[in-house]
Amino acid sequence: MWLAAAAPSLARRLLFLGPPPPPLLLLLFSRSSRRRRRLHSLGLAAMPEKRPFERLPADVSPINYSLCLKPDLLDFTFEGKLEAAAQVRQATNQIVMNCADIDIITASYAPEGDEEIHATGFNYQNEDEKVTLSFPSTLQTGTGTLKIDFVGELNDKMKGFYRSKYTTPSGEVRYAAVTQFEATDARRAFPCWDEPAIKATFDISLVVPKDRVALSNMNVIDRKPYPDDENLVEVKFARTPVMSTYLVAFVVGEYDFVETRSKDGVCVRVYTPVGKAEQGKFALEVAAKTLPFYKDYFNVPYPLPKIDLIAIADFAAGAMENWGLVTYRETALLIDPKNSCSSSRQWVALVVGHELAHQWFGNLVTMEWWTHLWLNEGFASWIEYLCVDHCFPEYDIWTQFVSADYTRAQELDALDNSHPIEVSVGHPSEVDEIFDAISYSKGASVIRMLHDYIGDKDFKKGMNMYLTKFQQKNAATEDLWESLENASGKPIAAVMNTWTKQMGFPLIYVEAEQVEDDRLLRLSQKKFCAGGSYVGEDCPQWMVPITISTSEDPNQAKLKILMDKPEMNVVLKNVKPDQWVKLNLGTVGFYRTQYSSAMLESLLPGIRDLSLPPVDRLGLQNDLFSLLHKQADMQEEKNRIERVLGATLLPDLIQKVLTFALSVSYSENCI
Ligand code: BES
Ligand code: ZN
Repeated sequence: MWLAAAAPSLARRLLFLGPPPPPLLLLLFSRSSRRRRRLHSLGLAAMPEKRPFERLPADVSPINYSLCLKPDLLDFTFEGKLEAAAQVRQATNQIVMNCADIDIITASYAPEGDEEIHATGFNYQNEDEKVTLSFPSTLQTGTGTLKIDFVGELNDKMKGFYRSKYTTPSGEVRYAAVTQFEATDARRAFPCWDEPAIKATFDISLVVPKDRVALSNMNVIDRKPYPDDENLVEVKFARTPVMSTYLVAFVVGEYDFVETRSKDGVCVRVYTPVGKAEQGKFALEVAAKTLPFYKDYFNVPYPLPKIDLIAIADFAAGAMENWGLVTYRETALLIDPKNSCSSSRQWVALVVGHELAHQWFGNLVTMEWWTHLWLNEGFASWIEYLCVDHCFPEYDIWTQFVSADYTRAQELDALDNSHPIEVSVGHPSEVDEIFDAISYSKGASVIRMLHDYIGDKDFKKGMNMYLTKFQQKNAATEDLWESLENASGKPIAAVMNTWTKQMGFPLIYVEAEQVEDDRLLRLSQKKFCAGGSYVGEDCPQWMVPITISTSEDPNQAKLKILMDKPEMNVVLKNVKPDQWVKLNLGTVGFYRTQYSSAMLESLLPGIRDLSLPPVDRLGLQNDLFSLLHKQADMQEEKNRIERVLGATLLPDLIQKVLTFALSVSYSENCI
């Protein structure tokens, strides 16, 4: 039986922010998002013109980066030394890399067992954030070492290698040096092949003041005095697995930490501002529960010996999944045990669950290009709920998913200026534009629907196939569909393409007829548009997994179908005339339902006696409200509903909306 998970989105983020509004209002009207400060409102951000863009040439690629950085926390500069083991695949006399806001001092290439060749020119293409190193002779195919000495600024832009201001407990202002590389800012910290599919291993060392904490993706393997300055130490970290540049991270600053070992043997630490270690304990508990959950779910162990979660004072995103060193803004990680509300704890649990999911989905298997970013983020935005539901069942977190993410995604996606989840991305400047509520919340919602359609057992099997097949490599959306298709025997790619490649979602109209002991349902689908009926030639169609429940067992699907045509008739066997029939158990399907008046009326007893599950009532109310909303001449009635919604308990509210809809204005022609 499919599990009837219910629940939310991007808009969800409001849910977890600030002082909690009264519960009913929160549930029904949480429409803004605490999730990502950078989310664009649909249609408001002017789309810059597409710039011509070329990926890096494939003639030279990295095998290992040996990188030493020496930040100066007083004059906000850093010195860097890179020694990259590289492979020349095609003879060339130039190497093109990504590089931005960095000055290269010297560069050379030494073919293995041969003499060093010094680069004679560094040609910066600032617009493209690239540098071309020119060599006086041809670099022959084979391996060699590329050495680059460079300097840069610890900037105040919260990207690349940047400075973050904090105040010590005694009131002194100081700076930490931290990184934020996703999507394309590793190139601001060191010259590199800054594309997600160009993976390599990293040996990182940091030269730092001896009284500062120095962290990177891996555990420390050596710490020794720095020869030129007795106040400095050189901290060397273990070699990373093969990984993408956007997941590299380092932090130098003053922090306290709390520590534990997860049951699967991973050393987990939460780093907090000095004097606030207590506030890291909740996130530590979440992380220690979360790691074994994902290990079991994916049936793939966490591949690093440690994971650090650190609260950064100045942080642009909500959190960032750097492999083994996850960075968070303080409000997404710290919980004051004496003064926190449960919505803050739920938020921290979700963010930790989200970023730790990326340690597998994103870090171990990485998207081939930014076009597949929606999958990375949509998947993590779904599984964070699965994880929190597992670790903290008392939160009833799926209800929040429906009231926030799912609801928000449907509201936005019903607008004419929405966009498909999957948009092709060329130039890196386009990457930021696609991190919006559609990629996060609709992405999470359609994956939730997919998980429900496939069933947990086969879904897990498919995830394991995908993560095992592509580990330490890159994959595209189609690769996940293929694994899930193999695991389930269902037409996953065909179904999912209708949800990811076209914008919007369907309205399913349904009417019923009693035929002896059976109920005959007539279903039809049409694009749901917030502004009125769909006008246009070919109305888009979706392959819609539909569940149908009856009053006999409101928590169980009596029938599951895949609606793969504009119209479909379905026979429900053995349904008595007095039983109600409802679509979309658990509000899992990403569609709205419009019932015939008779079907809608028959649902009233299930609402009245609360036998219809809460998330189903919520979905029904949402659908009704949005259908009423579409009618411009109904402003007065709408105001009335809003007054009712603001003042009544949920079940009554739905009943009133339904009663109102039936008695006053709801009609079958209202689309
Ligand atoms: N990978 C993202 C953060 C990110 C995305 C940084 C794009 C830079 C560019 C991370 O996993 C994420 O999604 N963070 C969210 C919080 C999360 C709980 C939804 C954020 O930053 O809002
Ligand atoms: Zn994410």
